[in-house]
Amino acid sequence: MKSSITQGVKLLATGSAVPNLCISNQVISNIVNTSDEWIFSRTGIKERRILSNNNSLIDIASIASLKALEKTNLNAIDIDLIILATSTPNDLFGSASQLQAKLGANNAVAFDITAACSGFIIAMVTAAQFIQNGNYSNVLVVGADVLSKWTDWSDRRTCILFGDGAGAAILQSSSLISNNILGFHLNTNGQKFNQLNIHYELDKHQENVFMSSMQGKFNVITMNGKEVYKFAVSKVPQSIQHCLDSLNLSVDQIDWLLLHQANARILNAVASRLMIPKKKVISNLEKYGNTSAASIPLALDEAIQDYKINHGDLIVLSGFGAGLTWGTIILKWQV
Ligand code: UT7
Repeated sequence: MKSSITQGVKLLATGSAVPNLCISNQVISNIVNTSDEWIFSRTGIKERRILSNNNSLIDIASIASLKALEKTNLNAIDIDLIILATSTPNDLFGSASQLQAKLGANNAVAFDITAACSGFIIAMVTAAQFIQNGNYSNVLVVGADVLSKWTDWSDRRTCILFGDGAGAAILQSSSLISNNILGFHLNTNGQKFNQLNIHYELDKHQENVFMSSMQGKFNVITMNGKEVYKFAVSKVPQSIQHCLDSLNLSVDQIDWLLLHQANARILNAVASRLMIPKKKVISNLEKYGNTSAASIPLALDEAIQDYKINHGDLIVLSGFGAGLTWGTIILKWQV
């Protein structure tokens, strides 16, 4: 879908934050019947960070945001729009307003986007629309999730995968010539929503018949791992190819492949389908596991910090997950 584009979108800076508590595969193997060998060989994950004590999603989201802001000449008050991609809000009415308050970004309108592991991609594309049509100049996009709160810690098929984290990006309106978001492609297949979800269920134990017919609570994460795996390795390469074709770019012109960090085998399979060499695949899965909406901005921020990504590099960002939803952005990094 095309719209009237008057402005370019510049990625000014990124930031990220993870909780201090580090849980190794060894620790998980004391909770469920699994092993470091099984987890690492099937997923590439060694450890993950878990939010504990009184810390909240907003604490890590605000640290990531401040780290990104510090790298720009902007103050929180200069931000026009905050989009928080999360599926694990503090408040079902949305958490972005809490982030706005914590940052003191009093001029910003703030709202949440719920799109699980594709959340950051969809939030970036949404932010880009507001900038490209000239409505907002400075936008903070945050991907943050604390899936540990919704994990069934007795289910070895899922509890080995997830970790908590946050990543942030500051986007700014620019001339069309210095535009960094070159193109995108988004998809949803709601027919398969039940392959990965957190159901809302009526409370069967509620004694009051009237209440039990209308009130309940959210369950824990359930996932058909094999189906989600097959979906990812078939749809993500198609999405990337579609996006590259629309920009007349070839796979060889891509410097980095940065996928949602779900499973090392998925990363390798997608790269191999597209014939992208392994050395171009960015991965920090080993340290953090699957951090849902945080995984792409967290890996992007680390790769920029490590000077892996250089001025002028083209990066494919691709997210996929619950919904089922998937999407790609082609990004040009310019210092
Ligand atoms: O962010 C959203 C996107 N999510 C994903 O992309 C997840 C995609 N799926 C996956 O990454 C993989 O399907 C998993 C890592 C979740 C599972 O790997 P798998 O190779 O598909 O394993 P499986 O489910 O086929 O299970 C193979 C065997 C089974 O035993 P049997 O039936 O063959 O005897 C499982 O019971 O491994 C067993 N198993 C485990 N064994 C030790 C499953 N989980 C574990 C475990 N430790 N943690």
